Parts: sequence; structure tokens; C-alpha cells
Amino acid sequence: MKKRLQFYSSLQLKKIFKNKKILITLGPTREYLDPVRYISNSSSGKMGLALAKAFKNVGAIPLMVCGPGVWVPPNLKSVDVVSALEMLEESKKLFSDCDIFICAAAIADYRPLKILKTKMVRGSHPLQIKLIPNPDILATVTALKKHQFCVGFALEDFPYSKPPALKVLKRARMKMIKKRCDLMVLNSARSMEGEEIDATLISSKGFHKFLGPVSKDFCAKSICQAIAQSLEL
Ligand code: CTP
Repeated sequence: MKKRLQFYSSLQLKKIFKNKKILITLGPTREYLDPVRYISNSSSGKMGLALAKAFKNVGAIPLMVCGPGVWVPPNLKSVDVVSALEMLEESKKLFSDCDIFICAAAIADYRPLKILKTKMVRGSHPLQIKLIPNPDILATVTALKKHQFCVGFALEDFPYSKPPALKVLKRARMKMIKKRCDLMVLNSARSMEGEEIDATLISSKGFHKFLGPVSKDFCAKSICQAIAQSLEL
């Protein structure tokens, strides 16, 4: 049976989340080829920052594992990392002590097999770079799950601002199951850099809600609401 997303007052949220430790990965990762060149993506880290702010406002204690190039306000705590391997190491270290883990980072799926120690010189022939897969941070961390509530973001290719088609919802649900998440935030590629996100919240408890294009702050508050509902169910 599909359940509807409930609304919790700020007082109720403060009761549920007071002193809960929230671990959030955010931003891109950077995979260096040589000292000055890297593979990365255009993630702004804004969604992760909005989550940290929303949880702090309801009495929780957010801690971020933050990729490069994201400006973190001084009232929020973060551990800075560069590559996916570093993000994985820090997340694993901090996971056992957290209550809620949210993987909002846009992790580079591949990294160069070799990192050159000195700057690569220009040549006139085509260049081939061998890439190897990075680990799946979310799946690796959730495999260590004990009491933690885990949230992932499923980035899928579908028309911005339209409710996702059934097959897209199914893919996101499959990711949720495979990566042992309790909540999946389905969004389209256009959300990555912008101020808004066209999110659909999918819960393992059976409810899902299309939020439409909303501000990342609004989406973060809705994620708090959805987690509160899952914890209470
Ligand atoms: N993720 C991760 N480590 C990776 C890739 C993705 O932890 N190497 C996390 C993302 O942070 C997100 C979730 O897994 O929370 C889903 O990411 P997504 O890009 O939608 O899916 P992928 O597993 O990368 O699969 P695909 O690119 O084939 O859709």
C-alpha cells in the first residue's frame, strides 16, 4: 500500500532529530591525471549544504565529507577530501558513529590507472588514458550498516520537471535496494549544478512523492520530513 508523505511540525522534528549525528557526503570528487589535470564533474555541493543546514535547524549534528571547490560556511563542520578513495576512507571512518548517512556527493565513477608525478607534456598524437572504476562509496559504506538510516541520490536521465516515468522510478528503486538505502532521492542530471532540483523521494517503507522542481532548501526540508516519517513508521 502506498503511504502519503506526512507533515511534521518543527517541534516534532526537533524531538526526532535532537543530537542525531548526520554524516553527509557532498560535492564532486577530483581524480588527478598529473599534478595539474583532473577528471571531475560539475556538482556544486549545494544539495549537501542545504541538508546540513536543514538538519542543524532541527537540532541534529551534521558532519560533512566534502569534495573540492565547495564553500562551507563557518558554522558547519566538514572534513575536506579530493578523490573518491579519500571520500570513501573518511566516510568509512565516520560511519560507525553516525545515525543517518546521506550520500549526496557526485563521485567520479572512474579514476586514471596512473597519476603522473610531473606535468604531462603536450604531444601531437591522440592520447589514450587508462581509467579504472572507483569503488561505490554508498554501497561500500551501507554494507557496514548497523542501526544507521541510509539515503542515496539516484541521478537519472529524464526530462526535467516532469514526474519520472515508471521505468525511471523502477531503476531508482533497484538502486535503493542494491545499495541498501532506506530512502532514495531520484533527480535528473539538470539538477546537479543549478539552484533547484526536480526530486522524487522514494522510501523503502512504501511511500514516494514527486516534489517537482523545488529549491534545494525545500528539498532538504522534505528529506528531513521523509526520514522522520520512516523513523516513526
Ligand atoms: N555513488 C557512490 N559511489 C560511486 C557512484 C555513485 O557512492 N562510485 C552513489 C551516489 O552518491 C548516489 C548513488 O550512489 O548516492 C547513486 O548514484 P548514481 O550516479 O545515480 O548511480 P550509479 O550507481 O553511479 O549508477 P549509474 O551511473 O549506472 O546510473
